[in-house]
Amino acid sequence: MQFGYFNDADKEYVITSPKTPYPWINYLGSDGFFSLISNTAGGYSFYKDVKLRRITRFRYNNVPLDLGGGRYYYICDGDDFWSPGWAPAKKELSFYECRHGMGYTKIKGARNGVSAEVTYFVPLNENAEIHKVTLKNDTKSIKKIRLFSFIEWCLWNAQDDSTNFQRNFSTGAVEIEGSVIYHKTEYKERRDHYAFFGVNAPISGFDSDRESFIGTYGGFEAPEAVVRGESGNSIANGWSPCASHCVDVELAPGEEKTLVFVLGYIENEHDKKWAYQTGTLSEANKGDTTSPKPVSQIAAGALVQSYSAPNGENVIDKTKAYAMLKKYATTEAVDKAFNELKEYWNTLLSKYSCKTPEEKTDRMVNIWNQYQCMVTFNLSRSASYFESGIGRGMGFRDSNQDLLGFVHQIPDRARERIIDLASTQLEDGGAYHQYQPLTKKGNDEIGGNFNDDPLWLVLAVVAYIKETGDYSILDVPTPFDNKPETATPLSDHLKRSIDHVINNLGPHALPLIGRADWNDCLNLNCFSTESGESFQTTTSKDGRVAESVMIAGMFAYIGEEYAELMRKTGNTAEADRVDAEVEKMRAAIMKDGYDGEWFLRAYDDFGKKVGSKENEEGKIFIESQGFCILGKCGIEDGKALKALDSCDKYLGTKYGLVLNNPGFTHYYVEYGEISTYPCGYKENAGIFCHNNAWIMIAEAVMKRGDKAFDYYTRIAPAYTEEYSEVHRLEPYCYAQMVAGKDAKRFGEAKNSWLTGTASWNFVAISQYILGIKPDYDGIEIDPSIPASWDGYTVTREFRGATYNITVKNPAHVQAGVKSLTVDGKAVDGNVIPAFTDNGVHTVEAVLG
Ligand code: BGC
Ligand code: NOJ
Repeated sequence: MQFGYFNDADKEYVITSPKTPYPWINYLGSDGFFSLISNTAGGYSFYKDVKLRRITRFRYNNVPLDLGGGRYYYICDGDDFWSPGWAPAKKELSFYECRHGMGYTKIKGARNGVSAEVTYFVPLNENAEIHKVTLKNDTKSIKKIRLFSFIEWCLWNAQDDSTNFQRNFSTGAVEIEGSVIYHKTEYKERRDHYAFFGVNAPISGFDSDRESFIGTYGGFEAPEAVVRGESGNSIANGWSPCASHCVDVELAPGEEKTLVFVLGYIENEHDKKWAYQTGTLSEANKGDTTSPKPVSQIAAGALVQSYSAPNGENVIDKTKAYAMLKKYATTEAVDKAFNELKEYWNTLLSKYSCKTPEEKTDRMVNIWNQYQCMVTFNLSRSASYFESGIGRGMGFRDSNQDLLGFVHQIPDRARERIIDLASTQLEDGGAYHQYQPLTKKGNDEIGGNFNDDPLWLVLAVVAYIKETGDYSILDVPTPFDNKPETATPLSDHLKRSIDHVINNLGPHALPLIGRADWNDCLNLNCFSTESGESFQTTTSKDGRVAESVMIAGMFAYIGEEYAELMRKTGNTAEADRVDAEVEKMRAAIMKDGYDGEWFLRAYDDFGKKVGSKENEEGKIFIESQGFCILGKCGIEDGKALKALDSCDKYLGTKYGLVLNNPGFTHYYVEYGEISTYPCGYKENAGIFCHNNAWIMIAEAVMKRGDKAFDYYTRIAPAYTEEYSEVHRLEPYCYAQMVAGKDAKRFGEAKNSWLTGTASWNFVAISQYILGIKPDYDGIEIDPSIPASWDGYTVTREFRGATYNITVKNPAHVQAGVKSLTVDGKAVDGNVIPAFTDNGVHTVEAVLG
C-alpha cells in the first residue's frame, strides 16, 4: 500500500494522505539553521547545536501522533477552522498533499472552497526558516478568512527545557513589535542571541503566551484563541512563551494572496545587545541607549501597533532582525531564495547520476540516497524522530563512515571533517568514541576503547584522497586529544591507527575487541548485572581476551588500503611493514576465525567462540562475513563464497539480511546489550540495513552481480514503497533497522534518516554494483550487475572533469570489463585516467 508517489522530475516525494503510518519527515537547512518537518508540519528548529540552541519546542514521546509541536497554521473561515497540513486541527480536507523536496517541504490543504499552500524552507546561508503561505479562494463569493500562525519557543537548552520546570517556568520573556514576536528568554542575562517570528503583513492580534492561546486544558487541535476567532494579545511573562499571529485576509472569488512568515535566529555582539537598556547597566552599555526605536521605523510590513517592551524594560537591538525581515519581505525575494536553494541541490546531486533499467534504483542514486548522505553529514546522529537531539555527540566511527557517502559532493568539508575527527584521536592511536560538535572535543563521558574506531579514520582518508587526489592532507599538523602541543602530520595519525590494532592482539592473534567493535551491543567485556547501567560506558573487564573477527577483517581490508597509500607516497618501508601484518592477520583469520561454513564473529572473555555452529543461539553473524571478504580472506579456496551462501541461507529474508541468527532469547551477561533486545529487533537479529551493504559489496567483489543487486533492492527505500503499511517509514530514506524474521512485527522499520546505512548503500550501489570507483590515478570501472541488464549509463564528475560513461552488457554477464574506450581510444585494463582539463569525456565499457 502506498501513501504517495515519487516525482523524480522535481526531486520530490509527494505524500497524498496525511495519515502516513508514521510521521514522514524531511530536513531543512544546510549549514547553521536546521529544521525537521513532518508531513503534517510537525517538528522543530535549532541553530547548530540541537541540544543547546533549540529554537522551537518538541515533545518526543508524542512522536507517532506527531503532535509534539510544529509550525502550525489554522484557517478560520466563518465558524469553521482547519489546518492546511490536516494536523493539528485534524479537520477533514477536500485536498491534501505534502511535497518533501531537497531542503524544502510544501504542504497544501483545502476545505470549503479555500486552499492554503505553505512552502517551508531555509534559504542558503540564512539563519531563518521561511514559511510562504498562499491562500486561494476557489468559490464564487468573497471569503473573509482569519489566519492564525503558531509556534512554541524552546527555552534554548532542550534538555533543561524538558526537565527543569521549577526554574524555566519563570524565565520566558518576549517583545512584540509590529508584526514580529521576539523570543528573548535569558537574553537579559548571559545570552547574546534571540529568535523571532514575523510576518510581512499587518496583524490584527497576536499571542506570545501559550496558555492564553491554547487554554490551560486545551490542545493544539483546538486552541481557545482559534475557537474564539480572536487572539488574546498576550505578552508572555514566564511559563511557556509562544508566537502566534492573527492575520485577516479577504479574498475575492478566484483570488490568491501570499504571506511570508520568517522564523529567524540572531546573534548580537555582546556589547551591542541593547537598543535601550534601563538600570545601572545602561551606563556601561555601548549600544544605542537613547530610546526604543519608534515602531514606524521598523521594516516588517505595515505595522498595526507596538506592544514593545514598555519603558522600564530592556529592549533588544533588533537591527539584524530588521535586515533579515526586510530581505524576505516580498514574495519575489522569497521565490528567488527558493530557486537558489533548488540550484544548490541540483549542482550537488549532479556529481553522480545514473540511468539504469530500474527506475527505483535511479531515483535512489540520483536523488534520495545522496540527499540522505548529506543530511547525515549535517546532523550525524543528533536529531530525527528517533534521536531526541539531547542524547549524543558525533560518533567517531559514524562520521568517518558517513564521509564515504558525501566526499564526492563536498570534498572541502570532508577534509575539514577528517581533521576535526583526527584531532580528537588519542596518542596511542585509540579514539574517543564521540566528540561534541560545538567544542570539537572528545566526549569524556563516553570515553573510548571501541577498538574498531581508529581504522575508520584510515578508510575515510583513503576515500578522500582517492576522490580528490589531494595528498597534502597527509601533511596537515593535527593534534591528539585537541592538545596543540602534540600536533603531528595526519599521516602519523593513520600509522597510529594501524598500530593500535597491531599492538592490541589477543590469544588467537586476532584484534582485541575492547568495549565493542562496530556492533555497539556486542559487549564482551561488560558483564553488566545492574539495571539501568549503560552498556556503552560500563566495562568490568580489562579485556585482554575477547577478540573480534570483524576488526580482523577490517584490518585485512583497511590495512592493505593503507599500505597502498603509503606506497603511493613513496613510503615503501611502511607499506611493506603493514602488508606483512595484513598477511599475518589473514592467516590468523583463516586459522582461528573460520567456522566451516562462515567466518566466526568473535571470541568472548572466556575464549569461547561467538557466532559459531557450536553456539545454541547467534550461530552466525553478518559483520565478519562482509569484512573478511573485503579483506580478501578465503577468496581462492571457496571459503568466501561458502560464507556468502550461508548468509543467504541463514540470514536472508525478503526484507533484507538479519544481523545474526538465531536471535538471542535470553540475556547473556557475557555478550551484553545485544541480548537485551527482544529477538528480531536492533542488533539482536534485526535487519540492520547498514551492514546489508557490506554483503552487497562482498557479493560484488565475488562478481555475483545478481545477488548483490537482489540484496540492494530488498532494503532500498524506493522498493519498500509498495508495502509502506508494513515498513511504515519514509519510502525515500533508509532506516537503520527493519524488524527481523524472529520479531513479532517482521518488516517494520525503525530509526529512519540518521544512519550509516545511507553512505554504505551509496558506496555499494555506486562503486560496487554500478562499479564506478574513484582511485588514486583515475576511475576504475568494475561493475557487478544483474545479468539481465543490457547496460546503463553513469555521469560522474571527478576532479573537475565530467565522465559520461556507458556500460554495455551484450553477453549478459554479471561482471568483468572486456573492453574500455575513452574518447574513442582503447584503454588497457579498466581504469580511466584522471583528466585535469575540466572537460567532458566519453567512456564506453563493454562487459563480457
Ligand atoms: C543501540 C545501538 C547504538 C548504541 C549507542 C544501542 O542501544 O542498539 O544501535 O549504537 O545504543 O547509542
Ligand atoms: C548505531 C551506531 O551509531 C553505530 O556506530 C553502530 O555501529 C551501530 N549502531 C551498530 O551497533
